[in-house]
Amino acid sequence: MLIKIKTSEARVGMFVHMVDGGWLASPFWRSQLLLTRQAQIDKLVDAGIAEIVIDTSRGVGPADAGAATACAVVVDPPEESEPPAAFAPAAPYNGPERRARRRPATELDRARETVERSKEAVSRMFSEVRLGHAVDAAAISPLVDEIAASVARDSTAIIKVTRLKNKDEYTYLHSVAVCALLINLARRMGLPEDEVRDLGMAGMLHDIGKMAVPSALLDKPGKLEPNEFSVVQTHPVKGHALLLESDGVAPPVLDVCLHHHERIDGSGYPHGLSAAQLSLHARMGAICDVYDAVTSDRPYKRPWSPSEALSRMSSWTGHFDPELLAIFIESIGIYPVGTLVRLRSNQLAIVTAVNDEDPTLPVVRAFFDIPTQAFVPQRDLDTARSRSEDTVHRTERGSYWFGDAWPQVMEAVRTGRTPPRASAAPAAPTPLAMGA
Ligand SMILES: [Fe+2]
Repeated sequence: MLIKIKTSEARVGMFVHMVDGGWLASPFWRSQLLLTRQAQIDKLVDAGIAEIVIDTSRGVGPADAGAATACAVVVDPPEESEPPAAFAPAAPYNGPERRARRRPATELDRARETVERSKEAVSRMFSEVRLGHAVDAAAISPLVDEIAASVARDSTAIIKVTRLKNKDEYTYLHSVAVCALLINLARRMGLPEDEVRDLGMAGMLHDIGKMAVPSALLDKPGKLEPNEFSVVQTHPVKGHALLLESDGVAPPVLDVCLHHHERIDGSGYPHGLSAAQLSLHARMGAICDVYDAVTSDRPYKRPWSPSEALSRMSSWTGHFDPELLAIFIESIGIYPVGTLVRLRSNQLAIVTAVNDEDPTLPVVRAFFDIPTQAFVPQRDLDTARSRSEDTVHRTERGSYWFGDAWPQVMEAVRTGRTPPRASAAPAAPTPLAMGA
Protein backbone atom coordinates (compact mmCIF):
# COMPACT_ATOMS: atom_id res chain seq x y z
CA MET A 1 0.00 0.00 0.00
CA LEU A 2 1.19 3.52 -0.75
CA ILE A 3 0.86 5.91 2.19
CA LYS A 4 1.75 9.58 2.41
CA ILE A 5 3.45 10.57 5.66
CA LYS A 6 5.30 13.58 7.04
CA THR A 7 9.03 13.30 6.38
CA SER A 8 9.66 13.91 10.07
CA GLU A 9 7.83 10.63 10.78
CA ALA A 10 10.02 8.59 8.42
CA ARG A 11 12.08 5.80 9.96
CA VAL A 12 14.74 3.35 8.89
CA GLY A 13 13.26 0.40 7.02
CA MET A 14 10.65 2.40 5.11
CA PHE A 15 10.65 2.22 1.32
CA VAL A 16 10.30 5.68 -0.24
CA HIS A 17 8.07 5.39 -3.29
CA MET A 18 7.91 9.11 -4.06
CA VAL A 19 8.94 12.41 -2.49
CA ASP A 20 6.89 15.56 -2.20
CA GLY A 21 7.77 17.84 -5.08
CA GLY A 22 8.68 14.97 -7.39
CA TRP A 23 11.92 13.42 -8.42
CA LEU A 24 13.69 16.75 -9.03
CA ALA A 25 13.27 17.68 -5.37
CA SER A 26 14.90 14.47 -4.15
CA PRO A 27 18.45 14.72 -2.80
CA PHE A 28 19.10 11.16 -3.98
CA TRP A 29 20.14 9.67 -7.29
CA ARG A 30 17.19 7.36 -7.40
CA SER A 31 13.58 8.39 -7.22
CA GLN A 32 12.81 5.40 -4.98
CA LEU A 33 14.90 3.92 -2.21
CA LEU A 34 14.89 1.86 0.96
CA LEU A 35 15.81 3.96 3.99
CA THR A 36 18.71 2.09 5.59
CA ARG A 37 20.22 4.89 7.69
CA GLN A 38 19.00 7.86 9.72
CA ALA A 39 21.34 10.02 7.62
CA GLN A 40 19.12 9.42 4.58
CA ILE A 41 16.10 10.68 6.51
CA ASP A 42 18.05 13.71 7.67
CA LYS A 43 18.97 14.39 4.06
CA LEU A 44 15.31 14.38 3.03
CA VAL A 45 14.44 16.75 5.89
CA ASP A 46 17.38 19.02 5.06
CA ALA A 47 16.24 19.15 1.43
CA GLY A 48 13.00 20.71 2.67
CA ILE A 49 10.82 17.79 1.64
CA ALA A 50 7.74 17.96 3.84
CA GLU A 51 6.08 14.69 2.89
CA ILE A 52 6.98 11.37 1.33
CA VAL A 53 4.95 8.48 -0.04
CA ILE A 54 6.05 5.12 1.35
CA ASP A 55 5.31 1.67 -0.07
CA THR A 56 4.46 -0.63 2.85
CA SER A 57 4.72 -3.72 0.61
CA ARG A 58 8.46 -3.01 0.20
CA GLY A 59 9.33 -1.70 3.65
CA VAL A 60 8.04 -1.04 7.15
CA GLY A 61 4.97 1.07 7.80
CA PRO A 62 4.46 4.03 10.14
CA ALA A 63 5.62 3.43 13.74
CA ASP A 64 2.41 4.70 15.27
CA ALA A 65 -0.42 3.11 13.30
CA GLY A 66 -3.07 5.22 15.07
CA ALA A 67 -1.35 8.51 14.43
CA ALA A 68 -0.51 7.41 10.92
CA THR A 69 -4.12 6.71 10.15
CA ALA A 70 -5.01 10.17 11.30
CA CYS A 71 -2.53 11.89 9.03
CA ALA A 72 -2.00 9.34 6.31
CA VAL A 73 -3.43 9.63 2.85
CA VAL A 74 -3.75 6.42 0.92
CA VAL A 75 -2.58 6.89 -2.62
CA ASP A 76 -3.69 4.71 -5.48
CA PRO A 77 -0.74 2.86 -7.00
CA PRO A 78 0.16 4.09 -10.46
CA GLU A 79 -0.56 1.67 -13.27
CA GLU A 80 3.06 1.88 -14.35
CA SER A 81 5.98 3.23 -12.35
CA GLU A 82 8.01 4.59 -15.22
CA PRO A 83 11.40 6.07 -14.32
CA PRO A 84 11.65 9.79 -14.86
CA ALA A 85 12.63 10.78 -18.36
CA ALA A 86 16.33 11.46 -18.73
CA PHE A 87 17.36 15.02 -19.36
CA ALA A 88 19.37 15.55 -22.50
CA PRO A 89 22.42 17.81 -21.94
CA ALA A 90 21.96 21.44 -22.81
CA ALA A 91 23.52 22.17 -26.20
CA PRO A 92 26.24 24.85 -26.17
CA TYR A 93 25.44 27.96 -28.17
CA ASN A 94 27.52 27.82 -31.33
CA GLY A 95 25.93 30.55 -33.41
CA PRO A 96 22.91 30.41 -35.68
CA GLU A 97 24.59 28.33 -38.35
CA ARG A 98 25.11 25.42 -35.93
CA ARG A 99 21.78 25.46 -34.15
CA ALA A 100 20.45 22.64 -36.30
CA ARG A 101 23.23 20.31 -35.20
CA ARG A 102 21.78 17.26 -33.47
CA ARG A 103 22.62 16.49 -29.87
CA PRO A 104 22.41 13.06 -28.21
CA ALA A 105 18.73 12.20 -28.29
CA THR A 106 18.50 9.36 -25.83
CA GLU A 107 20.19 7.88 -22.80
CA LEU A 108 21.36 5.10 -25.09
CA ASP A 109 23.34 7.66 -27.14
CA ARG A 110 24.88 9.12 -24.00
CA ALA A 111 25.66 5.65 -22.68
CA ARG A 112 27.45 4.77 -25.94
CA GLU A 113 29.63 7.90 -25.61
CA THR A 114 30.43 7.14 -21.98
CA VAL A 115 31.27 3.53 -22.76
CA GLU A 116 33.50 4.51 -25.68
CA ARG A 117 35.45 6.96 -23.50
CA SER A 118 35.69 4.40 -20.72
CA LYS A 119 36.90 1.69 -23.08
CA GLU A 120 39.70 3.93 -24.33
CA ALA A 121 40.73 4.92 -20.80
CA VAL A 122 40.71 1.33 -19.53
CA SER A 123 42.60 0.18 -22.62
CA ARG A 124 45.25 2.88 -22.01
CA MET A 125 45.54 2.01 -18.34
CA PHE A 126 45.78 -1.73 -18.99
CA SER A 127 48.50 -1.15 -21.63
CA GLU A 128 50.48 0.93 -19.16
CA VAL A 129 50.25 -1.86 -16.58
CA ARG A 130 51.37 -4.43 -19.15
CA LEU A 131 54.42 -2.24 -19.72
CA GLY A 132 55.21 -2.43 -16.02
CA HIS A 133 53.80 0.92 -14.89
CA ALA A 134 51.70 1.38 -11.75
CA VAL A 135 47.90 1.35 -11.86
CA ASP A 136 46.62 4.92 -12.16
CA ALA A 137 43.20 4.52 -10.56
CA ALA A 138 42.71 8.28 -10.38
CA ALA A 139 42.75 8.48 -14.17
CA ILE A 140 39.55 6.47 -14.48
CA SER A 141 37.82 7.94 -11.44
CA PRO A 142 35.83 10.55 -13.45
CA LEU A 143 34.62 7.79 -15.76
CA VAL A 144 33.32 5.79 -12.81
CA ASP A 145 31.35 8.92 -11.85
CA GLU A 146 30.06 9.21 -15.41
CA ILE A 147 28.97 5.58 -15.46
CA ALA A 148 27.32 6.00 -12.05
CA ALA A 149 25.37 8.98 -13.40
CA SER A 150 24.30 7.03 -16.50
CA VAL A 151 23.12 4.11 -14.35
CA ALA A 152 21.14 6.53 -12.18
CA ARG A 153 19.38 8.04 -15.20
CA ASP A 154 18.57 4.73 -16.90
CA SER A 155 20.41 1.58 -15.84
CA THR A 156 19.22 -0.44 -18.83
CA ALA A 157 20.98 1.78 -21.38
CA ILE A 158 24.58 1.39 -20.29
CA ILE A 159 24.14 -2.28 -19.38
CA LYS A 160 22.76 -2.91 -22.86
CA VAL A 161 25.63 -1.05 -24.56
CA THR A 162 28.38 -2.83 -22.63
CA ARG A 163 26.87 -6.27 -23.29
CA LEU A 164 27.23 -5.84 -27.04
CA LYS A 165 30.99 -6.19 -27.41
CA ASN A 166 33.11 -8.03 -29.90
CA LYS A 167 35.86 -10.50 -29.03
CA ASP A 168 38.66 -7.94 -29.48
CA GLU A 169 37.31 -5.39 -27.03
CA TYR A 170 36.13 -7.91 -24.43
CA THR A 171 38.87 -7.36 -21.85
CA TYR A 172 38.28 -3.60 -21.66
CA LEU A 173 34.53 -3.53 -22.05
CA HIS A 174 34.09 -6.35 -19.54
CA SER A 175 35.61 -4.04 -16.92
CA VAL A 176 33.24 -1.22 -17.86
CA ALA A 177 30.28 -3.62 -17.85
CA VAL A 178 31.09 -5.04 -14.41
CA CYS A 179 31.50 -1.46 -13.15
CA ALA A 180 27.97 -0.58 -14.34
CA LEU A 181 26.46 -3.85 -13.07
CA LEU A 182 28.02 -3.45 -9.61
CA ILE A 183 26.85 0.16 -9.34
CA ASN A 184 23.34 -0.87 -10.36
CA LEU A 185 23.26 -3.78 -7.90
CA ALA A 186 24.68 -1.68 -5.05
CA ARG A 187 22.06 1.03 -5.58
CA ARG A 188 19.32 -1.59 -5.73
CA MET A 189 20.51 -2.78 -2.32
CA GLY A 190 20.43 0.76 -0.98
CA LEU A 191 24.15 0.90 -0.17
CA PRO A 192 25.63 4.32 0.65
CA GLU A 193 26.77 6.29 -2.38
CA ASP A 194 30.46 6.26 -1.44
CA GLU A 195 30.31 2.47 -1.25
CA VAL A 196 28.49 2.39 -4.59
CA ARG A 197 31.34 4.37 -6.09
CA ASP A 198 34.01 2.09 -4.60
CA LEU A 199 32.21 -0.88 -6.10
CA GLY A 200 32.15 0.85 -9.48
CA MET A 201 35.91 1.28 -9.23
CA ALA A 202 36.18 -2.38 -8.18
CA GLY A 203 34.38 -3.37 -11.37
CA MET A 204 36.80 -1.34 -13.45
CA LEU A 205 39.87 -2.87 -11.81
CA HIS A 206 38.81 -6.41 -10.85
CA ASP A 207 40.62 -8.04 -13.79
CA ILE A 208 43.70 -5.80 -13.82
CA GLY A 209 45.80 -8.87 -12.95
CA LYS A 210 45.13 -10.22 -16.46
CA MET A 211 47.72 -7.72 -17.63
CA ALA A 212 50.27 -9.94 -15.89
CA VAL A 213 49.07 -12.95 -17.89
CA PRO A 214 50.35 -13.59 -21.46
CA SER A 215 47.92 -12.20 -24.08
CA ALA A 216 48.16 -15.44 -26.03
CA LEU A 217 46.38 -17.23 -23.20
CA LEU A 218 43.71 -14.56 -22.75
CA ASP A 219 42.94 -14.50 -26.47
CA LYS A 220 43.23 -18.22 -27.10
CA PRO A 221 40.25 -19.21 -29.29
CA GLY A 222 39.93 -22.75 -27.94
CA LYS A 223 39.62 -24.25 -24.51
CA LEU A 224 42.61 -23.70 -22.21
CA GLU A 225 44.79 -26.66 -21.24
CA PRO A 226 44.92 -27.32 -17.46
CA ASN A 227 48.41 -25.79 -17.16
CA GLU A 228 47.28 -22.73 -19.15
CA PHE A 229 44.19 -22.35 -16.98
CA SER A 230 46.42 -22.42 -13.90
CA VAL A 231 48.31 -19.43 -15.26
CA VAL A 232 45.09 -17.51 -15.95
CA GLN A 233 43.89 -18.33 -12.43
CA THR A 234 46.78 -16.33 -11.01
CA HIS A 235 45.21 -13.06 -12.17
CA PRO A 236 43.30 -12.23 -8.93
CA VAL A 237 46.47 -12.53 -6.82
CA LYS A 238 48.58 -10.67 -9.37
CA GLY A 239 45.96 -7.95 -9.70
CA HIS A 240 45.68 -7.59 -5.94
CA ALA A 241 49.47 -7.18 -5.71
CA LEU A 242 49.41 -4.53 -8.44
CA LEU A 243 46.66 -2.59 -6.65
CA LEU A 244 48.50 -2.76 -3.32
CA GLU A 245 51.39 -0.92 -4.99
CA SER A 246 49.09 1.84 -6.19
CA ASP A 247 47.90 4.93 -4.35
CA GLY A 248 44.37 5.54 -3.17
CA VAL A 249 42.84 2.13 -3.88
CA ALA A 250 39.91 1.57 -1.50
CA PRO A 251 39.53 -1.74 0.43
CA PRO A 252 36.44 -2.92 -1.55
CA VAL A 253 38.46 -2.61 -4.77
CA LEU A 254 41.24 -4.80 -3.35
CA ASP A 255 38.70 -7.27 -1.97
CA VAL A 256 36.72 -7.70 -5.21
CA CYS A 257 39.92 -7.99 -7.24
CA LEU A 258 41.25 -10.80 -5.04
CA HIS A 259 38.00 -12.70 -4.48
CA HIS A 260 35.74 -12.31 -7.53
CA HIS A 261 36.39 -15.94 -8.57
CA GLU A 262 35.56 -17.45 -5.18
CA ARG A 263 32.34 -19.50 -4.82
CA ILE A 264 30.13 -19.80 -1.75
CA ASP A 265 30.72 -23.58 -1.55
CA GLY A 266 34.48 -23.04 -1.32
CA SER A 267 35.26 -24.42 -4.78
CA GLY A 268 36.50 -21.14 -6.24
CA TYR A 269 39.95 -19.59 -6.39
CA PRO A 270 42.48 -18.36 -5.33
CA HIS A 271 41.78 -19.26 -1.68
CA GLY A 272 38.75 -21.55 -1.78
CA LEU A 273 36.85 -19.36 0.67
CA SER A 274 33.27 -20.28 1.55
CA ALA A 275 30.18 -18.10 2.02
CA ALA A 276 30.87 -17.09 5.61
CA GLN A 277 34.42 -16.05 4.74
CA LEU A 278 33.45 -13.98 1.73
CA SER A 279 32.52 -10.33 2.06
CA LEU A 280 29.32 -8.89 0.62
CA HIS A 281 31.41 -7.04 -1.97
CA ALA A 282 33.20 -10.21 -3.11
CA ARG A 283 29.89 -12.06 -3.49
CA MET A 284 28.43 -9.16 -5.46
CA GLY A 285 31.52 -9.04 -7.69
CA ALA A 286 31.30 -12.77 -8.45
CA ILE A 287 27.73 -12.44 -9.74
CA CYS A 288 28.36 -9.36 -11.89
CA ASP A 289 31.59 -10.81 -13.31
CA VAL A 290 30.00 -14.10 -14.40
CA TYR A 291 26.82 -12.48 -15.74
CA ASP A 292 28.78 -10.24 -18.07
CA ALA A 293 31.16 -13.02 -19.10
CA VAL A 294 28.42 -15.45 -20.11
CA THR A 295 26.34 -12.83 -21.95
CA SER A 296 29.38 -11.72 -23.99
CA ASP A 297 30.64 -13.12 -27.27
CA ARG A 298 33.77 -15.10 -26.41
CA PRO A 299 36.24 -16.94 -28.68
CA TYR A 300 35.07 -20.30 -27.32
CA LYS A 301 31.34 -19.86 -26.77
CA ARG A 302 28.26 -18.08 -28.08
CA PRO A 303 26.78 -15.40 -25.82
CA TRP A 304 23.79 -16.37 -23.73
CA SER A 305 20.80 -14.04 -23.73
CA PRO A 306 20.27 -12.19 -20.42
CA SER A 307 17.28 -14.36 -19.49
CA GLU A 308 19.12 -17.56 -20.43
CA ALA A 309 22.14 -16.45 -18.38
CA LEU A 310 20.08 -15.62 -15.31
CA SER A 311 18.12 -18.84 -15.61
CA ARG A 312 21.30 -20.93 -15.82
CA MET A 313 23.04 -18.99 -13.06
CA SER A 314 20.01 -19.55 -10.80
CA SER A 315 20.25 -23.29 -11.40
CA TRP A 316 23.90 -23.54 -10.30
CA THR A 317 24.18 -24.58 -6.68
CA GLY A 318 27.09 -23.48 -4.54
CA HIS A 319 28.30 -20.83 -6.95
CA PHE A 320 26.55 -17.62 -5.92
CA ASP A 321 24.86 -16.17 -2.86
CA PRO A 322 21.19 -17.00 -3.74
CA GLU A 323 19.72 -13.96 -1.98
CA LEU A 324 22.13 -11.62 -3.73
CA LEU A 325 21.43 -13.32 -7.05
CA ALA A 326 17.70 -12.70 -6.55
CA ILE A 327 18.38 -9.00 -5.98
CA PHE A 328 20.72 -8.95 -8.97
CA ILE A 329 18.00 -10.44 -11.19
CA GLU A 330 15.64 -7.77 -9.93
CA SER A 331 18.27 -5.09 -10.62
CA ILE A 332 18.62 -6.26 -14.22
CA GLY A 333 14.85 -6.00 -14.59
CA ILE A 334 14.20 -9.21 -16.45
CA TYR A 335 12.61 -12.41 -15.24
CA PRO A 336 13.99 -15.75 -16.46
CA VAL A 337 11.78 -18.83 -16.70
CA GLY A 338 11.23 -20.37 -13.25
CA THR A 339 11.51 -17.07 -11.34
CA LEU A 340 8.99 -16.60 -8.53
CA VAL A 341 7.43 -13.13 -8.75
CA ARG A 342 4.86 -11.09 -6.90
CA LEU A 343 2.22 -9.50 -9.11
CA ARG A 344 0.73 -6.09 -8.43
CA SER A 345 -2.49 -7.93 -7.56
CA ASN A 346 -0.55 -9.40 -4.59
CA GLN A 347 -0.48 -12.91 -5.97
CA LEU A 348 2.60 -15.10 -6.36
CA ALA A 349 3.34 -16.40 -9.84
CA ILE A 350 6.05 -18.33 -11.65
CA VAL A 351 7.52 -17.08 -14.92
CA THR A 352 6.70 -19.63 -17.62
CA ALA A 353 8.01 -17.85 -20.73
CA VAL A 354 10.17 -14.85 -21.57
CA ASN A 355 8.92 -12.12 -23.84
CA ASP A 356 11.82 -11.64 -26.28
CA GLU A 357 10.66 -8.16 -27.27
CA ASP A 358 10.50 -6.94 -23.69
CA PRO A 359 11.98 -9.30 -21.03
CA THR A 360 10.45 -7.12 -18.30
CA LEU A 361 7.00 -8.36 -19.35
CA PRO A 362 7.06 -12.17 -19.08
CA VAL A 363 4.31 -14.77 -19.30
CA VAL A 364 3.49 -15.98 -15.78
CA ARG A 365 1.31 -18.54 -13.99
CA ALA A 366 -0.35 -17.10 -10.86
CA PHE A 367 -1.08 -19.66 -8.15
CA PHE A 368 -1.00 -18.16 -4.63
CA ASP A 369 -2.90 -15.30 -3.01
CA ILE A 370 -0.76 -13.41 -0.47
CA PRO A 371 -3.50 -11.64 1.58
CA THR A 372 -5.43 -14.88 2.17
CA GLN A 373 -2.29 -17.09 2.24
CA ALA A 374 -4.03 -19.63 0.02
CA PHE A 375 -3.41 -21.42 -3.23
CA VAL A 376 -5.81 -20.21 -5.90
CA PRO A 377 -6.89 -21.66 -9.26
CA GLN A 378 -3.91 -21.23 -11.55
CA ARG A 379 -4.17 -18.66 -14.31
CA ASP A 380 -1.72 -17.99 -17.13
CA LEU A 381 -1.12 -14.33 -17.81
CA ASP A 382 0.83 -12.61 -20.58
CA THR A 383 1.84 -9.42 -18.77
CA ALA A 384 2.73 -7.77 -22.09
CA ARG A 385 -0.95 -7.96 -23.03
CA SER A 386 -2.40 -7.26 -19.64
CA ARG A 387 -0.45 -4.26 -18.42
CA SER A 388 -3.50 -2.49 -17.07
CA GLU A 389 -4.84 -5.70 -15.54
CA ASP A 390 -1.78 -7.08 -13.75
CA THR A 391 2.00 -6.89 -14.01
CA VAL A 392 5.08 -8.14 -12.21
CA HIS A 393 5.85 -6.09 -9.11
CA ARG A 394 9.07 -7.77 -7.90
CA THR A 395 10.91 -11.06 -7.55
CA GLU A 396 10.37 -13.25 -4.49
CA ARG A 397 12.22 -16.15 -2.91
CA GLY A 398 10.40 -19.50 -3.02
CA SER A 399 12.12 -20.96 0.03
CA TYR A 400 11.02 -17.95 2.04
CA TRP A 401 7.34 -18.46 1.25
CA PHE A 402 7.20 -22.25 1.16
CA GLY A 403 10.29 -23.41 3.04
CA ASP A 404 11.57 -26.85 2.11
CA ALA A 405 8.37 -27.55 0.15
CA TRP A 406 9.28 -24.97 -2.49
CA PRO A 407 10.67 -27.49 -5.07
CA GLN A 408 7.42 -29.53 -4.83
CA VAL A 409 5.29 -26.39 -5.09
CA MET A 410 7.22 -25.25 -8.14
CA GLU A 411 6.94 -28.64 -9.80
CA ALA A 412 3.20 -28.79 -9.09
CA VAL A 413 2.65 -25.33 -10.58
CA ARG A 414 4.86 -26.14 -13.55
CA THR A 415 2.77 -29.21 -14.34
CA GLY A 416 -0.56 -27.48 -13.67
CA ARG A 417 -1.40 -29.34 -10.44
CA THR A 418 -2.52 -27.79 -7.16
CA PRO A 419 0.31 -27.93 -4.61
CA PRO A 420 -0.35 -29.88 -1.38
CA ARG A 421 -2.10 -27.79 1.28
CA ALA A 422 0.68 -28.35 3.81
CA SER A 423 3.12 -26.42 1.64
CA ALA A 424 1.27 -23.12 2.03
CA ALA A 425 3.20 -20.43 3.84
CA PRO A 426 2.48 -20.63 7.61
CA ALA A 427 2.31 -16.90 8.22
CA ALA A 428 2.30 -13.66 6.33
CA PRO A 429 5.97 -12.72 5.92
CA THR A 430 7.13 -9.19 6.25
CA PRO A 431 8.67 -7.64 3.14
CA LEU A 432 11.83 -6.66 4.98
CA ALA A 433 12.62 -10.28 5.75
CA MET A 434 13.25 -10.65 2.03
CA GLY A 435 16.15 -8.27 2.33
CA ALA A 436 14.59 -6.14 -0.38
FE1 LIG B 1 38.60 -12.39 -13.35
